[in-house]
Amino acid sequence: MGGSTAVGGHKRGMFSSNFGFLLAAIGSAIGLGNIWRFSYMAYTNGGGAFLIPYVIALLTAGIPLLILEYGLGHREHASAPLAFAKLNRRTEWLGWWMPLFVMFGIMFYYQVVIGWCANFVIFSLDLRWGADTQEFFLKKFLGLTASPGELGGVRPLIAVSTGLMWLGTWFITFQAVHRGIERACKIFMPLLLLTTLILVGWGMTLPGAWEGIRYYLMPNWGKLLDLKVWMAAYGQIFFTLSISFGIMIAYASYLPRKVDLVQNAVITSLTNCIYSFIVGFAVFAVLGYLAMAKGLPVDQVIKAGPTLAFVVFPEAISKLPFLRELFGVLFFSALVIAGLSSGVSIIEAFTSAVTDKFKISRKLVVTLLCVTGYLGSLVFMTGGGLYWLDIVDHFLNQYGLVLAGLLQCVFVGYILKAGVLRRYINKQGRLRLSKGWDYMIKYLTPIILLIMLVRSLTGEILKGYEGYSTSALLGIGVSWLLATLTAAVVLSIYPWEPSRLRADHVPESDELFR
Ligand code: PHE
Repeated sequence: MGGSTAVGGHKRGMFSSNFGFLLAAIGSAIGLGNIWRFSYMAYTNGGGAFLIPYVIALLTAGIPLLILEYGLGHREHASAPLAFAKLNRRTEWLGWWMPLFVMFGIMFYYQVVIGWCANFVIFSLDLRWGADTQEFFLKKFLGLTASPGELGGVRPLIAVSTGLMWLGTWFITFQAVHRGIERACKIFMPLLLLTTLILVGWGMTLPGAWEGIRYYLMPNWGKLLDLKVWMAAYGQIFFTLSISFGIMIAYASYLPRKVDLVQNAVITSLTNCIYSFIVGFAVFAVLGYLAMAKGLPVDQVIKAGPTLAFVVFPEAISKLPFLRELFGVLFFSALVIAGLSSGVSIIEAFTSAVTDKFKISRKLVVTLLCVTGYLGSLVFMTGGGLYWLDIVDHFLNQYGLVLAGLLQCVFVGYILKAGVLRRYINKQGRLRLSKGWDYMIKYLTPIILLIMLVRSLTGEILKGYEGYSTSALLGIGVSWLLATLTAAVVLSIYPWEPSRLRADHVPESDELFR
């Protein structure tokens, strides 16, 4: 069953089963980040060697923080702002800031990239990109300008496809969680699994595939000494697990009591990371094939950065021995499906934040968010959009998410006390956390995150980022930070209805799951 629970006169959503929750959480985690972002991150940061900082980041920050977010959302039965407000009114702003900066930052460009993918599904039907895929993507499709300062106009084709993606997102989130998101993920996730398996199987049987895979797995150890690689790995783990977005807190608040939170966190994070790892095989197999077809070494066909999926892949698809169009349709559809099931989760996180605090209808909030989202996406639909995407993606993931993760550790570790949350989590299910988790949340994770933040920030201030003007970037970054922080603080100052801050009754799992 499932549906909603009434708390202090407010109705909150509810997943209809733990499995439904898992599908939605995995749906949020698995996204463009796993296919599009992971492959170019792995490539840029040392190929196989990237997997080492990636796994270390997963163990020292990813899983502990995911458990923290599940535990917090579940214990307080609340979205991020309410959960932090229940800890202490003075920490509420963090609960707002997380979904705010994701919604008014990451989400704006994320939907545009899903829009590109939708365009590429159609382009696959007749291999529209032709022989020069770089020229097609950058010039004909994006209309790329010479610098970020020059926006050019909004690209009509991208405006339409991105609009459709926002419409789809609106349609799914408009309904209650168990009817909208949960049902959509029940269709999307099996579909994604099937498509991925076909792509991996297909890719690995191509001639030259193993050369590409060897390249993927062959570590460039020298890169491990580079702090940037570590920072990229932590940024990627936060991004891919949807940590510090406020999403996992909100999703866990839609669970009844007595569900195994630790097990859920382990299942979500492992499924997500194994998925990325496996998709990497398909990606690099295809690159190996392309290298063979062109008679070049693998490293000369690969392009770093966001264009990997839209320049190198189309070129490889055009050279496939058979059913090329189908491969293209499957690959780009997988990206659309994975992207949509992530996009809806941030809308949900923001909506639950607003409806927990204010008496506004869910439908109105969702509609306003999607309309604002579309308007915010406009910058990324222009000829200068790709530059902005690169800048926003880099700074929000490497600094924003990591900083928010650090603050979550400190607030929960020292204000609520890690031990209190651990004992709560341990009462819920069979898998138990040891005291080691407290140490991670209180010392290890925040210290690692702090060191990396400081070192990487000083490095970038001194050396700059990809040749963009450091002072311009700092100016934009700082004003944007101030704007989102101010919004978060203002929202948190607004008073709560007193009943909302009290502990509430949440149904036991057997009252709901049958
Ligand atoms: N985890 C998602 C991914 O890897 C990131 C994301 C979630 C982005 C929700 C936007 C909204 O793609």
